[in-house]
Amino acid sequence: EQAEKDGYEHYMLKEIYEQPRALRNTMTGRIDEAGQQIVFPDLQLSTETVKGIEKIYIVACGTAYHAGMIGKHVIESLAQIPVEIDVASEFRYRRPLFKGKTLTIVVSQSGETADTLAALREAKRNGSSILAITNVVGSSIAREANHLITTNAGPEIAVASTKAYTSQLIAFYLLGLYLAQEKETLPSEERKSLIAALQKLPEQVETVLAHAEGIHTFAQSIKDEGHLFFIGRGLDYAVSQEGSLKLKEISYIHSEAYAAGELKHGTLALIQEGTRVIALSTQAELHEKMVSNITEVKARGANVLGIALEDNVELHRSVDDVCLIPSTDALLTPILSVIPLQLIAYYTSVALGNDVDRPRNLAKSVTVE
Ligand code: G6P
Repeated sequence: EQAEKDGYEHYMLKEIYEQPRALRNTMTGRIDEAGQQIVFPDLQLSTETVKGIEKIYIVACGTAYHAGMIGKHVIESLAQIPVEIDVASEFRYRRPLFKGKTLTIVVSQSGETADTLAALREAKRNGSSILAITNVVGSSIAREANHLITTNAGPEIAVASTKAYTSQLIAFYLLGLYLAQEKETLPSEERKSLIAALQKLPEQVETVLAHAEGIHTFAQSIKDEGHLFFIGRGLDYAVSQEGSLKLKEISYIHSEAYAAGELKHGTLALIQEGTRVIALSTQAELHEKMVSNITEVKARGANVLGIALEDNVELHRSVDDVCLIPSTDALLTPILSVIPLQLIAYYTSVALGNDVDRPRNLAKSVTVE
């Protein structure tokens, strides 16, 4: 087992550090040589079919669901197709309306999650076409879907998902760009510049990983906390949810991810002297609003770690600590901002002496409903 961990103390850490390679693998063969077009040789979606899609459902569980939240944002903004997202165990029983031409995207690292598989079957029974995003080629979900995008991240062993999540995000970026290309909803110059930014991400993840020393100290400082808050807006809110889940899964510290603008409608009552808050602010157009939310929690005594793009010097003034990530297109920041959150969860779990790779009560793949 030690050999399989490649010298890393845990599979989770190994998988966090494998992300640059995993992301490159997800992109391989899916971008043309000139970097101008998305080519999806394995996706049997003709231009005509793409143009006919009236609505998309995204269905998944756990971390894959959090990837889907980003996917919704990406597809709606690039391809202008309305997207509804649900956790698989809810989707199945709420009788979703399959009117017109729908595409249901099921996201699953293992391809075997029982609730996700059941949701796939329910959507199929209702006449929807199914596209699976999975890491396991021969899995049940891969076999039962009509269309398949494999993430090619390599086997993920740690229960807490890391490289599968970021490679699912890459799959969504490629898919969003592909749908936009076929529907002609995005000027080709914008597509090219997004593709270039996408291709830079693996290297930028390496940069984030190489400057992660401060995270050990931060993890030490939160390990005895009873609860924590993650706040963000838009894509940052979706990433906050993944960061909060990671921390709960392996450190067993309670945390809550909150849409920053919603705090004042209730949760702000829980903020008191010394409450630890992790605030994500990577979206330039939402930055001012985030600063005012940070000021709101600081005024009640919160201690805030800000996660922001390197060119955002303004944020320094409003937080106690800051973790900077390289600049990229606003749509692509989740790939970079989630890395410090994965490391915070990892080092906190290590500091507490928990079984990082096999957290209590959880399984890597849940094959019961
Ligand atoms: C389990 C794992 C989670 C995972 C979820 C969905 O609960 O512990 O890490 O996100 O299943 O798994 P899937 O294989 O469908 O992505």
